[in-house]
Amino acid sequence: MSEAKRLAGEKAIEFVEDGMIVGVGTGSTVAYFIDALGRVKDRIKGAVSSSEQSTARLKQHGIEVLDLNHTGTLSLYVDGADECDPHKRLIKGGGAALTREKIIAEASKQFVCIVDPSKQVPVLGKFPLPVEVIPMARSLVAREILALTGGQPVWRDGTVTDNGNVILDIHNLSITDPVAMEREINQIPGVVSVGLFARRPADIVIVGGEPPVVLR
Ligand code: A5P
Repeated sequence: MSEAKRLAGEKAIEFVEDGMIVGVGTGSTVAYFIDALGRVKDRIKGAVSSSEQSTARLKQHGIEVLDLNHTGTLSLYVDGADECDPHKRLIKGGGAALTREKIIAEASKQFVCIVDPSKQVPVLGKFPLPVEVIPMARSLVAREILALTGGQPVWRDGTVTDNGNVILDIHNLSITDPVAMEREINQIPGVVSVGLFARRPADIVIVGGEPPVVLR
């Protein structure tokens, strides 16, 4: 799969225009995008990063990492996903970076999602749905999610997000209305964000392969 990830990540460079500040996601597919971005770094103004992991890699390439509060709206955000449905709605958060990813996606005019073919699904939910939660609310949120969705929340023990929070992964879901589920889980007190990207889906999906497929 890493070859498909590399092909998707490198294809996304075609969306980078001169002088851009590029929003950068997190994960193993994005790592290939960052490496490719390093090769054109003189063409861009810098990047806004969604995680400490991506920040470190961007800096290794000598790409300036900027604060979203100082950049305003971004033209382009490139990120991976854990699942992608035919409407470009996503599950994200396998790498625990979902909250900052969601912030940058919301702040961006164009969201280009880069995936290998294994991420494409007809209906979201086989991949356990990550939810970032304030630590003291972990058990409360787990109970409420069980009652709301029927899914089984599992604490990702040992994981602390870049924001100091914990992750619940919700197993056994079949998400037929991702917009409604995103809204309902978001409303539970203690939830920071849910890894459903449905209200703001991707605009373009690049599926890695020979050649990569660009879904518009
Ligand atoms: C990070 O929290 C996730 O949202 C990533 O976007 C996702 O896990 C990326 O998966 P890959 O590592 O397979 O690219």
